[in-house]
Amino acid sequence: MTESSFIHRFEPATNAGSPPLLLLHGTGGDENDLLGLGRMISPGSALLSPRGRVLEHGMPRFFRRLAEGVFDEEDVRRRALELGDFVADARHRYGIAAPVAIGFSNGANIAAALLLLKPDVLAGAILLRAMVPLSDPPQAELGGKPVLLLSGQADPIVPASNSTRLAALLSEAGARVDHKVLPAGHQLSQADVTLARNWITNVDAEAA
Ligand code: MLT
Repeated sequence: MTESSFIHRFEPATNAGSPPLLLLHGTGGDENDLLGLGRMISPGSALLSPRGRVLEHGMPRFFRRLAEGVFDEEDVRRRALELGDFVADARHRYGIAAPVAIGFSNGANIAAALLLLKPDVLAGAILLRAMVPLSDPPQAELGGKPVLLLSGQADPIVPASNSTRLAALLSEAGARVDHKVLPAGHQLSQADVTLARNWITNVDAEAA
């Protein structure tokens, strides 16, 4: 597989010290959707932004689902590995380090699957409105990878018990999880941007 098998946008870094970002859009989005969010959260970062290859009534996604919140887990596994290959190829082509994923909704769910199935692909992740992507994930070794999970208190798609379970799952696998529940629904709010921006600045300072 080559990186051209995902339609994507790439913007080179304008600040060599900022971590590259892998931007993963929600259902019905595309490779342009999260560029602005990425720039707000980490100005100067290289941006790698693929378009999900699965279509649901014409809407791009990163994996198939059987119903809202009910995933085709075989497809989740396959698509996460495919995305991992894309990132490896794109790193080679564009000369970037392992990225921090910023995923929203369906994009956050594939990022969580990638962490559990192919931990080396990502340096960390910001998961916006994510849920548990696999009912029986493999034993992952996340070795202290930083993960920010931002959930909405009134999210009609992600029950609180589900995001709590995801936080526990990632922590048990060794990730350094920071889970915050915001007074929000499934949509993003200004608080998401502010928290994500502060988090990535701190993670970056620790890594330096
Ligand atoms: C998903 O299918 O990944 C979740 O239900 C979130 C969504 O895309 O609506």
